[in-house]
Amino acid sequence: MVGKVTIIDHPLVQHKLTLMRQVETHTQDFRRLLKEISMLLAYEVTRDLPLKYEVIQTPLTTTKAPMLAADRKMVIVSILRAGQGLLDGMLELIPTAKVGHIGLYREPSTLVAVEYYFKLPEEIDQRDLLVVDPMLATGNSAVAAVDRLKETHPTSIKFVCLLASPEGIEHFHEQHPDVPIYTAAIDEGLDEHGYIMPGLGDAGDRLYGTK
Ligand code: URA
Repeated sequence: MVGKVTIIDHPLVQHKLTLMRQVETHTQDFRRLLKEISMLLAYEVTRDLPLKYEVIQTPLTTTKAPMLAADRKMVIVSILRAGQGLLDGMLELIPTAKVGHIGLYREPSTLVAVEYYFKLPEEIDQRDLLVVDPMLATGNSAVAAVDRLKETHPTSIKFVCLLASPEGIEHFHEQHPDVPIYTAAIDEGLDEHGYIMPGLGDAGDRLYGTK
């Protein structure tokens, strides 16, 4: 089974992504752009949410109108720390979502993902998960996060990022072909340190002004 990849190529997303890539874009603009893009990503990622028709009263008449099905509960799982940059915008669009966090860091010599934090809301077995991390680079963190999340038996999982590498997509879908990936772009590849090229640098550092 080959996993599904959706590229969100909306012109607004692509324009804002280009601004984020530019080295002269400062922290405050980078953060704002990521938040704006995350709302546009959330819009696309939630396109298949089921609707239920409810009888409502307008000022003029009674009618049946679509509303989100209340029994589909969503959890946004942020992979720390850069995932936080996608979280806030998504929560503005999906305010009823609960939030989980997974802390993973890349061991610098091996690039293997090491878990240091894991906290989820209750009843994950009745919830749809959106796992968010701006950069799908080697895929090690994404695979490790989804490995852990599958242990909690959620209803569904989608992985949402800003930039992906071909290697990261391949690695992720080797392990989790059932989890669709949503990304704004697929770049050329990885450099020897596991950074996405041409990329945008270290998303966490650019988001928080660290080095
Ligand atoms: N993480 C980042 O923040 N940037 C990359 O290019 C790869 C991983």
